[in-house]
Amino acid sequence: MAKRLHVILARAGVASRRQAEELIREGRVAVNGKVVVDPATQVVWGQDTIRVDNRLIDRLEPKVTVILNKPRGVVTTVSDPKGRPTTAELVRDIKARLFPVGRLDYHTEGLLILTNDGELAQYLQHPKYGIPKTYLAKVKGLPTAQAMKRIRCGVILNGKQTAPAKVRKIGTTGKNTWIEMTIREGRNRQVRRMWAAVGYPVLKLKRTRYGTIRLGNLKPGAYRRLTRREIEDIRKCIPR
Ligand code: URA
Repeated sequence: MAKRLHVILARAGVASRRQAEELIREGRVAVNGKVVVDPATQVVWGQDTIRVDNRLIDRLEPKVTVILNKPRGVVTTVSDPKGRPTTAELVRDIKARLFPVGRLDYHTEGLLILTNDGELAQYLQHPKYGIPKTYLAKVKGLPTAQAMKRIRCGVILNGKQTAPAKVRKIGTTGKNTWIEMTIREGRNRQVRRMWAAVGYPVLKLKRTRYGTIRLGNLKPGAYRRLTRREIEDIRKCIPR
């Protein structure tokens, strides 16, 4: 049965649907020897020849999903032109080609999901599902009730208000404050920019939860496969 090219690429474990659309638009995908730039191009798996960056996509990989405790000072990418350590290197003993679900900044640590399951990645990242992500942040100073309210109700970033966030203080060093917050969006450097906007810059940031998945006591740099139960818990929420 014919299916859209970006859907097939996601199923083949090349990238999430959204990333596959970008690959196609960038002219990196050829079908039957011709570059196509329309992600909605219809293809038939097993019949049409699909290449990405000239690599033949000829099998549907078994699905693998892991969580990594990304350490600080590591780039969320498959390869870094500046030669910095990458998240891909930390999971290199897994044979499948895994791609990250969203991104954590270079200086942010914590829970990063890596998968070759395009459908799962699409669900976890798409803004329309608003999957909650929880962070532990150390902010400079002692935020006032007014600042906490602004974070909770939304601050303006690039002319657009952030969606309501859950936020609570969980401790203080006297000079600085530990905060736990949960947001449902995934704008670029969102947590850091929200706190900067209210005058309390983030000094440390760690993601501890992504939807139903928790980081637990995984050591920085270590990863583990999601359990069947964890995958089922996500899958049963994916609309069909
Ligand atoms: N918000 C940020 O500011 N940085 C991250 O890495 C994730 C969320």
